[in-house]
Amino acid sequence: MRIANSPVSAREFCAKASRPVVLVPTMGALHEGHAALIRRARKLAGAKGSVVVSVFVNPIQFGPTEDFSKYPRSWKHDLDVCGRSGADLVFRPSAEQMYRDDRSVFVEESSLSRYLCGASRPGHFRGVCTVVAKLFLILGPDIAIFGEKDWQQLAIIRKMVRDLDFPIRIVGHPTVRERDGLAMSSRNDYLTPEERTVAPGIYAALTLAAGATRPKDVLKGGRRLIEQIPGTRIDYLELVDAETVEPVRSFSRPMRLAVAVFLGKARLIDNIAVAART
Ligand code: PAF
Repeated sequence: MRIANSPVSAREFCAKASRPVVLVPTMGALHEGHAALIRRARKLAGAKGSVVVSVFVNPIQFGPTEDFSKYPRSWKHDLDVCGRSGADLVFRPSAEQMYRDDRSVFVEESSLSRYLCGASRPGHFRGVCTVVAKLFLILGPDIAIFGEKDWQQLAIIRKMVRDLDFPIRIVGHPTVRERDGLAMSSRNDYLTPEERTVAPGIYAALTLAAGATRPKDVLKGGRRLIEQIPGTRIDYLELVDAETVEPVRSFSRPMRLAVAVFLGKARLIDNIAVAART
């Protein structure tokens, strides 16, 4: 496994690498969910292709009061996860290499980003789209893999790739969960032992609520169940169209029931599929 610390050396590696080149973009603090994405990348690349993992805590996707400086960083452990999961290259640029002080060009998606995390974290998806577009241009992958836990992010990246004609196939990978149902996330590290004990209640609430017969009961039931979990504060709970991320009030198209919840120092997000019904 090779390590590239600069965009120039990563570009050189990918230009010569045998194809397909499969990219797994991450912000480090890798957990078993990331390991599953890298193993999936290995499968898609096959024995001949190349797997690239980027590790970059992207400053421009964090708001001024968010957790950029506290975001967990675990480089040695990350290298170990990449090595044992089948990566060929780890790209770990510095912020200075990715962003010049006088930068003035950004990539902004303006429709799907209006909802959910886009509404509660202004500028977040502009930062995500900008860094992902830069990674695509630097590394030129054939395929890129994103976790479904960040469903809105995945939908926005698909839209960006479609609208800007990136010749890249986007693959979504199902959310990897702890045994008790909690979606794996680097931000789970912020939970105290007590908070960690109650956190699986969020996923349990989503699955229970999704069974209701009317959309408004899904939301009402979900809200009630989550509010019963000690220490939680709901940021949003929405039933949205799986593709456009627009809030829906009927069961006519494939949907996601999506939630963001503050629990102690953590803001946890999760979502599940809700099938269209008549
Ligand atoms: O999902 C993440 O970890 C980040 O948003 C991503 C896609 C690596 C961009 O910084």
